Amino acid sequence: MTQYDSDGRGGDPVLVVEDLTVQFPTGEGVVNAVRGVSYQLRRGEVLGIVGESGSGKSVTSLAVMGLLPRTAKVSGSIRFGGVDLLKANEKELNKVRGKGIAMVFQDPMTSLNPVYNVGDQIAEAITAHHDVRRDVARKQAVDLLDLVRIPNPQQRANEYPHQLSGGMRQRVVIAIAMANNPDVIIADEPTTALDVTVQAQILEALQAAQKETGAAMVLITHDLGVIAGQADRVHVMYAGRVVESGTVDDIFYTPRMPYTLGLLGSLPRLDVKTERLTPITGSPPATTNMPPGCPFSPRCPLAQPICDEEEPPLVAGPAGTAAACHFTEQVVGKDPAELFSATSADVAAVPVAVDAASDPETNR
Ligand SMILES: Nc1ncnc2c1ncn2[C@@H]1O[C@H](COP(=O)(O)OP(=O)(O)OP(=O)(O)O)[C@@H](O)[C@H]1O
Ligand SMILES: [Mg+2]
Repeated sequence: MTQYDSDGRGGDPVLVVEDLTVQFPTGEGVVNAVRGVSYQLRRGEVLGIVGESGSGKSVTSLAVMGLLPRTAKVSGSIRFGGVDLLKANEKELNKVRGKGIAMVFQDPMTSLNPVYNVGDQIAEAITAHHDVRRDVARKQAVDLLDLVRIPNPQQRANEYPHQLSGGMRQRVVIAIAMANNPDVIIADEPTTALDVTVQAQILEALQAAQKETGAAMVLITHDLGVIAGQADRVHVMYAGRVVESGTVDDIFYTPRMPYTLGLLGSLPRLDVKTERLTPITGSPPATTNMPPGCPFSPRCPLAQPICDEEEPPLVAGPAGTAAACHFTEQVVGKDPAELFSATSADVAAVPVAVDAASDPETNR
């Protein structure tokens, strides 16, 4: 089933992902990393994708960038500028990467080359797609450093990544992402490696980059708090699927899927007086050899026998929202503590905070 949850901004969609499925054959069976994800983005629109570690957020984006390992089995379609990226050859993909769609990864050190100064690296991103003189590109690089609010950009451009702080390095990566005026910026956990005060500055720099270029943005995070001030729409992912979608207000104030309510309960909030946080008990499911039914059922306080038999489809709800739960009506209006603490003692498993440490294997 394909559903879109907003009429978004700015004309025709620039990126349309439809029924994307990614599987990895492994020694222990097939990993169902992404199971039928669909979304579309219009210019200037920010889509937040949120979910626990292993829910398929990064794999979805790597598929869009054509960066999955060859062993991956991919189906569905990813349409960008009239081209289905899943059918495109390496030459076509190289044109899209960086110029059409740019990516910002979690750890800036993995995106930057330690042996070139940052000015040259930004200039390189420009000359890779444009026929401009080196000195012109170098001047643009300094302007870009200024735009992402790096002080003394002229001098900083001559420095190497190790000479910059983590926050500044991530600004350089954002400058590289902006270098070719992309139509889409995908930021995968762009602030996770940074401390809280720097996080806010980086989000600001990303917002500035997005506004300046008019690009659409996919902002991926495990932290609903990051999404709140940034996104127009939110997709909540669980076990490779979108399980709820809506505007930020829909997701924060009227969630209709118990997992979303659980994420909210694990989030410190200043606007609501709560006595304590309510973590979702249990762990995210393995996506190998998945049993039938809703993958959230073992952790869900509302679970009934039908939940272990039938996986609920993503069904359209009020005002362009969508949720995948057999009992959405029972979620509406509930407080996370009310729903989750009552039964948490029954679920015999270790509590997992939403910001559980990432699996190093999947930590991209
Ligand atoms: N190359 C691979 N081979 C096998 N399994 C993989 C591979 N890459 C990812 N996976 C699996 O696919 C699933 C989704 O991974 P993904 O990296 O998209 O999660 P994520 O939501 O980005 O998590 P995190 O918050 O930790 O970054 C995980 O179960 C992961 O182990
Ligand atoms: Mg990831």
